[in-house]
Amino acid sequence: MNQKNQHYSTEYPDVKLKIYTISESLRRHLYIFKTATGVFSFKKIDLGTQILIENMTIPKNPSVLLDLGCGYGPIGIVLGYESPLSQIFFIDINKRATWCSKQNIKINFPENRNRFKVLTGNYLEPVIKKSIKFDGIFMNPPIRKGRAEFLKILNEALNVLKPNGFFQFVIRKKMGASYIENFINKNFPRNKYSFNILCKRSGYWVFNLMLNTAFSDEN
Ligand SMILES: C[S@@+](CC[C@H](N)C(=O)[O-])C[C@H]1O[C@@H](n2cnc3c(N)ncnc32)[C@H](O)[C@@H]1O
Repeated sequence: MNQKNQHYSTEYPDVKLKIYTISESLRRHLYIFKTATGVFSFKKIDLGTQILIENMTIPKNPSVLLDLGCGYGPIGIVLGYESPLSQIFFIDINKRATWCSKQNIKINFPENRNRFKVLTGNYLEPVIKKSIKFDGIFMNPPIRKGRAEFLKILNEALNVLKPNGFFQFVIRKKMGASYIENFINKNFPRNKYSFNILCKRSGYWVFNLMLNTAFSDEN
């Protein structure tokens, strides 16, 4: 499949199913992943995903974390390994992607799998319905679907964060990273939000936008 078109962003990808097994070393641990045609970057981990994983902040205390737009689940699987007391949610619209994420939980975590939950649905809809709030949301967004769609996700993500919760995401410089930086600086005041860029590498920027305690819904 040509990854430039967006066949992977649909519920049922229209491409013949072929399963792959790949291995990736991330944060100095080796993971095995099942991937499939019709799922984003199924032959090799995407460079943006890899840069996000290497630079994201992972809470060590028990937390509720979300891999949003999980694909075959590399971000959530690393979160699960590095934060063994946390509950990890995965969401994707693509049923083949969520099937792969479930397989990858089984492969990489022989026990204690109750703390993982994989949901198929449209961005945050499945968790908004259940009123679940997160300490951290992580995302390599489908930015080719347009900035407007990403800015909508950005606002929705902030509404499902706990006090001091954060949204960390990666954007390619040539896909508008500096536009997003300016948008955040203009629209998210520093008394309510903390914002920094965790890393700029190989043309990818990793963003960290945090909701300050005093302004979260729970206060
Ligand atoms: C750039 S890919 C990242 C995939 C995976 N996190 C990774 O890093 O390999 C974006 C993901 O968002 C998913 N996606 C697109 N539209 C979506 C939607 N409306 N709701 C949930 N997920 C969506 C796509 O299916 C795709 O898996």
